[in-house]
Amino acid sequence: MGLWESIPPEYQDNLTRIWTSPKKRAAAMAVLLMVAIIGLYASFGPVATSLPSISKENAIRRDDWQTTSDYDIVLSHYNEDLNIMRESIESVRSRLPSTHSKRVIIYSKGSVDQDGLQELLDMSDEVVQIPNVGREGETYLSHIVRHYDTASTNIAGHTIFMQPHVAWWWVFLPRLEKVLDKNTGFLSFGPYITHICGNDTHGQFHPRMADIYSMFQMDFCPPEPVLGTWAGQFTVSRHRILENPFKVYANLRQKFHEPKDHWIFKEGWWNNEPSNPTLGHALERSWPMIFNCTDPLIEKQCDENVQNSHCQCTDG
Ligand SMILES: *[C@@H]1O[C@H](CO)[C@@H](O)[C@H](O)[C@H]1NC(C)=O
Ligand SMILES: *[C@@H]1O[C@H](CO)[C@@H](O)[C@H](O)[C@H]1NC(C)=O
Repeated sequence: MGLWESIPPEYQDNLTRIWTSPKKRAAAMAVLLMVAIIGLYASFGPVATSLPSISKENAIRRDDWQTTSDYDIVLSHYNEDLNIMRESIESVRSRLPSTHSKRVIIYSKGSVDQDGLQELLDMSDEVVQIPNVGREGETYLSHIVRHYDTASTNIAGHTIFMQPHVAWWWVFLPRLEKVLDKNTGFLSFGPYITHICGNDTHGQFHPRMADIYSMFQMDFCPPEPVLGTWAGQFTVSRHRILENPFKVYANLRQKFHEPKDHWIFKEGWWNNEPSNPTLGHALERSWPMIFNCTDPLIEKQCDENVQNSHCQCTDG
């Protein structure tokens, strides 16, 4: 049935009359045009302006990409040596339980062309090009924001966030082998530290760590020692990632995407700038607070040479 036939006869009659009167035809055309413009705006306008910057990414995946995974290895790459990165990925992947599914996702913050992206895909399952802002911490937030509630991409049972080289390998590798298990909630692969609202026992002070505490714990930062860590390499369970609301990750990530003259780049260290923000150094130390693993006893019980179950927070 055509459009005309679908209109009841009594209306067909009226429409024919409108269409045959020149004045009414002009008025009807004007109305039709407005409806068309509004329709076009509704379908393109608001969508185009509300697209988050994250979806402008350039991502390539292997054909055998799996939509779910037990372990994701997520790396932040700038221009580090590819052979070292390949070895780092292998040294981590080979220590994960062989019967579990794994994906390797590389976020590329360097300026690589299509061939360069393909080279990265040779050692991974997905390569995502993102702007070089916010150091490795922004990369990890971007991964979480990208996967938080997408059924098709999904956050892995455990995500291992790391950089292209295995830093503190004598801490990283034994913890991976001896401590990581199915109940792991949060486990740092770098040394633990303690701090009081960002003032740490090594003489460094990052006042924004108090804000990060408040954002994620939804409480005041207490005037007591809280667990922190170094090195930007750790694993966290899906359960703990999803325990924090999406918006908190998105808000924190947004701070790294502000323009160069924003106040966030005026506080902190002399070399504060979008590609190396002081906030990124605060974030590096804050992952235990973000994932609710704050007990300062962990730092006491788990020094660089002791790798046992005291080194992690587990999920109930
Ligand atoms: C950090 O803590 C130490 C030891 O309690 C204290 O002496 C120092 O003044 C604090 N620094 C800042 C910037 O609050
Ligand atoms: C954080 O962990 C503590 C136990 O260490 C627990 O009592 C609390 O409910 C957790 N908070 C959230 C938001 O899950």
